[in-house]
Amino acid sequence: MKFAASLFASAIAFFAASVSAAPLDVWDPTITSPVAGTVWTIGTQVNVTWSTADEPAHVSNGGQIVLALNQIESSFESLSPIFDLAAADGFYTVTVPNVPAGDDYQIVLFGDSGNIGPSFSIVAA
Ligand SMILES: *[C@@H]1O[C@H](CO)[C@@H](O)[C@H](O)[C@H]1NC(C)=O
Repeated sequence: MKFAASLFASAIAFFAASVSAAPLDVWDPTITSPVAGTVWTIGTQVNVTWSTADEPAHVSNGGQIVLALNQIESSFESLSPIFDLAAADGFYTVTVPNVPAGDDYQIVLFGDSGNIGPSFSIVAA
């Protein structure tokens, strides 16, 4: 898969950044979109959103958005670079990748160990 190598590289960079950050106010936000019933169309821009209600004052970790299929880690595809989670204000815009249409995709929002959302659908344009 085209994304496997770059994802592993970014995952390693991500965890290295998390470990070296101090003081540790690691935040693992709750995904609020996409939810069950959400349909994304390939090639369109969509927002991944999360609750900021429990956001610590000093978030020490970055965020990264990854697409999973059937909750299988080997199918993960990174949808974003590692970004400033505290500055993102509860959303990050991604482009829906050209993947097979399906109803068992999940978004993983990496805070510390990662936070997987409910299954949603991706359809062809
Ligand atoms: C994403 O959310 C922001 C803030 O609410 C909004 O300005 C923007 O239009 C949204 N983008 C999409 C693609 O929905």
